[in-house]
Amino acid sequence: MLQRLRCDLVKKLFYTQRWTNWGTSVQKQYPPAETSDRFLAALQEAKRSLPNIPVEILNELFLTWGNKGWSAKEELLAGMTQQAWETEGTILECGSGLSTLILGLVAKHKGQRVVCLEHSEHWAIVVQNALDQFGLTNVELLFSPLVSYDDYDWYKLPANTFQEQEITLVVCDGPPEGTRGCRHGVLPVTLPFLHHGAVILLDDVQAGGASVLARWKREFGLDSVVEGSIKTYGRTVIP
Ligand SMILES: C[S@@+](CC[C@H](N)C(=O)[O-])C[C@H]1O[C@@H](n2cnc3c(N)ncnc32)[C@H](O)[C@@H]1O
Repeated sequence: MLQRLRCDLVKKLFYTQRWTNWGTSVQKQYPPAETSDRFLAALQEAKRSLPNIPVEILNELFLTWGNKGWSAKEELLAGMTQQAWETEGTILECGSGLSTLILGLVAKHKGQRVVCLEHSEHWAIVVQNALDQFGLTNVELLFSPLVSYDDYDWYKLPANTFQEQEITLVVCDGPPEGTRGCRHGVLPVTLPFLHHGAVILLDDVQAGGASVLARWKREFGLDSVVEGSIKTYGRTVIP
């Protein structure tokens, strides 16, 4: 009964939520309810084809998840799936959504730990509901509001979430780019928990990500490689 009530609540939010970030108000276009079956079928196909999820399945997931303006696109989804498949340690994701479900599939298959930070309470409920619906209860989705660090804002990392050098992969698709300092905070805040050789995949280099990579080069001496074509992402390896 409780689960049913929760689903109804989420459905209501999912279809009518009005986002009001940064003083703007955007009525979201959500998919009609019947696309859920298509999404489920695509997710099952993705699970079967791990780690090489065909591009048409990634596109189908992107379309039927129904959050086009905000979801990770096929190139990052494919790159992150490969990287997650190859990595042995804990995966950290910043900014939840479609990518969380795919990382959940990989981590479940490999018995790996995956932690996702989400600053929007509303969005955390939506994503948690989807994870529950698909049995991806292995994902630790943490509602983590943005807080102020020196000259940037970033997620409030709950105490004792990670042990030293536990993380081997970070998929960074949040917080939203308009955040003070953009996504810079992932490096200084999580550095103690990053393993040698850990990989950070930073989405949206074509937008605010480029300045973040430049800052990491300047302040940490880290080089990054840019991958993807239209919506590009950076790959940074921790020495
Ligand atoms: C780029 S999105 C993360 C997308 C996620 N990695 C995915 O693949 O779906 C970054 C953040 O934007 C917020 N967000 C998601 N959808 C949104 C929407 N439609 N409008 C405003 N903010 C949104 C969430 O808080 C999310 O963590």
